[in-house]
Order: sequence, then C-alpha cells, then structure tokens
Amino acid sequence: MATTKRYDVKDLALAPEGIRRIAWADRQMPVLAAIRDRFEHEQPLAGYRVAACLHVTTETANLMRTLKAGGADVVLCASNPLSTQDDVAAALVDEFDIAVFAIKGEDNDTYYAHIEAAVDHKPQLTMDDGADVIGVLHSARREQLGDIIAGTEETTTGVIRLKALEADGKLGFPIIAVNEAKTKHLFDNRYGTGQSTIDGIIRATNVLLAGKRFVVAGYGWVGRGVASRARGMGAHVIVTEVDPLRALEAAMDGFEVLTMDRAAEIGDLFCTATGDKSVISRSHIEVMKDGAILSNTGHFNVEIEIPALRQLATETREARQFVEEFTLENGHRVYLVADGRLVNLAAAEGHPALVMDMSFANQALAAEFAIANAATLERKVYPVPDEIDREIAKLKLDTMGIEIDRLTEEQARYLASWNEGT
Ligand SMILES: NC(=O)c1ccc[n+]([C@@H]2O[C@H](COP(=O)([O-])OP(=O)(O)OC[C@H]3O[C@@H](n4cnc5c(N)ncnc54)[C@H](O)[C@@H]3O)[C@@H](O)[C@H]2O)c1
Repeated sequence: MATTKRYDVKDLALAPEGIRRIAWADRQMPVLAAIRDRFEHEQPLAGYRVAACLHVTTETANLMRTLKAGGADVVLCASNPLSTQDDVAAALVDEFDIAVFAIKGEDNDTYYAHIEAAVDHKPQLTMDDGADVIGVLHSARREQLGDIIAGTEETTTGVIRLKALEADGKLGFPIIAVNEAKTKHLFDNRYGTGQSTIDGIIRATNVLLAGKRFVVAGYGWVGRGVASRARGMGAHVIVTEVDPLRALEAAMDGFEVLTMDRAAEIGDLFCTATGDKSVISRSHIEVMKDGAILSNTGHFNVEIEIPALRQLATETREARQFVEEFTLENGHRVYLVADGRLVNLAAAEGHPALVMDMSFANQALAAEFAIANAATLERKVYPVPDEIDREIAKLKLDTMGIEIDRLTEEQARYLASWNEGT
C-alpha cells in the first residue's frame, strides 16, 4: 500500500522485513489483538488525531495498528534516537499507512525535528514514553495545549516529570500514567527490562556473565529484574541503592549491597537503572578495573557521566558495534555500551512482545478511557483505573491458558467482615 502521508524513515525498501517481524510480535500479543478486534467494531477513537512518541519497535507497531483500527489518525515519532527499528518504521508507512518520523541513530536536531513533526499533526491525544511530546507542547507549542483532550505516559521517568508539572500547577491537560498500572510496571519494568537488558549487554559485548561481578545501580522494578536475570546467568550481583528499604530488600533477596564508591573498584560490568543522574560519576570511573563495561537501562543517558568519561580518556575507539573503548591515563580501558542509552533498546530489540502485550493493552484502553471521560478529567496525573488493570490481567491469564479460583460468597463475606474468625 502506498502511503498518503508525510513521513521520514530510513528506507521504505526495508518494509518487507518489518512486516514479517511485526506479524511475529503480533502472535505474542493476544490481549492487544483482542482489543484491536473490538476497536475495529466499536471505533472508540474515530476521527481523533493521536501523536505517539514511543520506541519504534514491532510491539509499538501493533499498538499503532490497534489505534488506527479504533479509528484514530495516528502519527509516530521515536522516544529515543537509538531505539528505532528502521524496518518497522518503513513497514508502518508502506504497509499500514501510518505516518512515522524516526531513523535509528538520528542526531539530536533530527530527533527533535521529528517530535515537532508529530506535534504539527495537531494531536488531540498524546502518547509519550519519557514526556518528550508533552515537553514540547508545554514550551514551544503552548498555543496547542487547549486542543488536547488527554495524554498517556509509558515510563517511570516521564510520570515523575509530569507529577512535578502537576505539582507546579502547570500541567496543561489530563494524563493517564500507564506506567502506574500494575499490569505495566510489575511485568514490563521487571521481567521485560530484566531479560532484554541482559540480552542487549550480551549482544553488544558477547561476554560471559557467569563468574563476573555485575553491579546494578537501583533496586526499583527495573533493577530487580536486571539483578535477578544477571544472577540467573551465573553472575555475582552487587546492588547499589539510596533508599534504605530497597537496599534492605536487595540484601534479603540475597544480593551484596555496596556503595558505588566500593562497587566501582571491583565491578566487571555495571548497569544503571535508577532514573537519576550521575550515578556513575567521574570519581567512580577513575577507580574502575581495566576492562570494566558500563551500560544503562534507565530512561535517559545521564546516569553515567559520559562527559567525564570523555575528559578522562587519552584515547577512544569503537571496539565493536555499540561498544566504545576509552583508554584512561592509568592505562585502564573502560567500555561504554550504546553510548549510555537504554541498552535493551539500542543494542537489542527492547522487551519481548509477550510482556509489551500488557503494557500496550494499557495504552490502548487508557486512550479509550481518556476520550470517553474527556468531560470529567481535570489537569491531573491519573492512575489507570483498577478495572482496566484487572481486565488486562484476566485477559492475559486466559490467553496463557491459566485458570484461577474464585472467592465463594462465604469467603467474600469473611474477608469483608471484622467480627468473624477467632
Ligand atoms: N530500559 C527500559 O526499557 C525501561 C523500561 C521501564 C523503565 N525504564 C526506566 O528505568 C528507570 C528505573 O525505573 P523503575 O521503574 O525501576 O523506577 P523505580 O523508581 O522503581 O526505581 C528506581 C530506583 O533507583 C534508586 N536510585 C535513585 N537514585 C539512585 C542512586 N543515585 N544510586 C542508586 N540508586 C538510586 C531509587 O531509590 C529506586 O529504588 C526509569 O528511568 C525508567 O523510566 C526503562
């Protein structure tokens, strides 16, 4: 199908491979497929313009198809300059007639020009992963704020920023925080990022994890997943934290908990997963072992102090695709994977489709909910309604062939009472 829309992708000739891979992911996304079938009949998004700024992957492609099936007029740009799968971008344009502005490895100016192109679409609904579209709308394009019914936000870092905007009284339209859904962060952040981060590190470096000291910074949902999967590969995992409760949990889960000052001296591999900045700083890099490998799976590439790493280096070279070697003054070589950007998306393919099925089911149902409830939503950050969370969990269990018990009437009464049971 020839596109009717404006777009900017690497090469439309890549479309056939993208179409094959989108179909492969679709097989692992039955919940989203069921929603797509319903959307096709009910048209809950009919005529609404949507600007989505998400990692341009096969799973995102299936979400875009679902929004389009629901009647939306969709434009997609990337939420990270390195995470775009060029074949998927080409397929969306060529096969599914969806406007895409995204090229893997695009420079910063192109990245922001692509976000502007999505905003030019005059969206009534935004869908962000890291609040970049919302950022542009709240700065350079304030005149468009009034046209927007609502937005959705996919990730922890974006939700933190939007809550800060709300607290300052400056949020321009209602937001549904998809990340806060249990069927999102308990699964995507932990199991999806856990597996795909390890996958990205291994694809980029081909190192054996068994027997290595693997330092995970942050023991949130993402850090827990990375730590448990690295342990599963035989690594000796060290966790660093700033929150005493999370640190205690990591210790009781059996991980060694150290400060980054100490971990920096002994780690073979490092992976930051905090959403914070300068977690691995100049002083840490200075004491690292020869051969230390640094990666990040938090949203932005600020967790490792890359400018300091560049300053400390007497020489740099590309050691492998996605791996840059920095030779320090003391002769030690330190390796940075994927320029410190989300390693699972830059050096691998992001989360497996099966887990994105739930995250993107939340996105689709949050979009439907926002439009259906436009009249009552205020300029606040809202959680995904509990009914949607439970509905998605139930659909997922059904598609996995798992049945669960139901409360009897007597049990329901017992659990709701205060005077029964001694
Ligand atoms: N790579 C991916 O595909 C992917 C997927 C989901 C989320 N994310 C991103 O990963 C990051 C973490 O997400 P999360 O859901 O685990 O968040 P979270 O809030 O559950 O966990 C973050 C943890 O980092 C800790 N932390 C903060 N500063 C620290 C520091 N200086 N040193 C050590 N620990 C520190 C916090 O105490 C917290 O426990 C966010 O940026 C999020 O957007 C990435």
